[in-house]
Amino acid sequence: MKKSYKKDTILKLLSSMSSEKEIRKYLDRFSSDDYRFALIKVGGAVIQSDLENLVSSLAFLNEVGLRPIIVHGGGPKLSEELNKRKIEFSFLNGQRVTTKDVLDVAYEIFSGENKKIVSALNDQHVNAIPVIGDIFSCNIENKDLGYVGQIKETNSNKIKDIISSGGIPVIAPIGYTEEHQLVNINGDKATLALAKEIVPDKVIFLSEIGGIFDGNDQLISNINIKDDYNNLMSQDWLHSGMKLKLEQIKLLLDSLPSNSSVSITKPLHLNRELFTDAGFGTLVKAGHQINKLKSLNNDQNNALVSILESAFKGTLSKNYFENDDKEFYISECNRSSIVITTFKDIAYMDKFAVINSARGEGLGNAMWNKMLSEHKKIFWRSRASNAINNFYKDVCDGFQKSDEWNIFWIGIHDLDELTACINYAVNQPATISYEN
Ligand code: ARG
Repeated sequence: MKKSYKKDTILKLLSSMSSEKEIRKYLDRFSSDDYRFALIKVGGAVIQSDLENLVSSLAFLNEVGLRPIIVHGGGPKLSEELNKRKIEFSFLNGQRVTTKDVLDVAYEIFSGENKKIVSALNDQHVNAIPVIGDIFSCNIENKDLGYVGQIKETNSNKIKDIISSGGIPVIAPIGYTEEHQLVNINGDKATLALAKEIVPDKVIFLSEIGGIFDGNDQLISNINIKDDYNNLMSQDWLHSGMKLKLEQIKLLLDSLPSNSSVSITKPLHLNRELFTDAGFGTLVKAGHQINKLKSLNNDQNNALVSILESAFKGTLSKNYFENDDKEFYISECNRSSIVITTFKDIAYMDKFAVINSARGEGLGNAMWNKMLSEHKKIFWRSRASNAINNFYKDVCDGFQKSDEWNIFWIGIHDLDELTACINYAVNQPATISYEN
């Protein structure tokens, strides 16, 4: 009783940020994944300066029955402590050279940081379980790095057991060798190794900055590796830390199923990132294969009809495919499509559909950009009540409103031509019918 009451209260709270339907969609999606819901890497700096937000965001997840796997770092605190104790240390290729002295302090600090998270969660009645030094079986591969472990194998059964008994594992970046020697592991590497083993729906990096920012200091909301990676890596504003992270994320996504995603956000925004389409952070996906077709075979035809009917929640008219020449953009995942016809050699976007469960991934954007890169002049209409109109207003060169339709255009500058296009759009028969 108490639990569902609380759940409802929290849902209401989240609803102030977006529709309850949207939130429920994500709750359902994540709930079906049991231990595969999410792997969350908590940056070391977050434990030092943002523990409160971290704990309340995680307590919320726990409250709605979602149990993520937590891996944390501790680098900044370790450096601080080594300095304090006047123990010298250095880095080699981004990895901390770990002498016996450094290892002793590392173990002490990482255990301490682990305990901070675990007890703060326990105080909120979250059954957080510390996991220190017994799931990463390692080799020492590079003697120059000292006691640094290369992960050989991950014992994910222990993690699964904790989750299936209602706990949340909190994992420190410490491994062991065959000789029972404890070793230091890089927190990001531990996260990647675990992700490959667990294959979670989402991998989330919680940091103080909470995302990847562009040259104008604007948060980049979506990154599709396929479309954006090379371009991003060549930008001089992408500083080395972020470059490295993006490189690792690419490798990770390469080895996960194509619908997996990585989010970078901060503790305060975690639930907004998870439970809304727009999110709050940077969402990285492997990218979308989009096919452009001039004609459709039977399967493609069926796929298109179901995308359109699901996205518009109506029935497509039987003769939709009969009349004019059409051009189809369909995402490989069969979750989004654009249909183009032509009027006086100008492209008319007859349909643009993204099914509900694919919203928020940047798929619509990828479709749009692909279509736009191939059509310099284009016009379309949309019902005045359609929520996508704000997006259309942003991207169009101009628009005209009537009671029923908004007409938008790009690249059409001749007034006669424009008038003809607007007339054409307004007078197109409806091809989706709705039951009332
Ligand atoms: N809530 C969805 C997810 O977690 C979409 C997040 C969108 N985030 C973004 N930064 N664009 O997968």
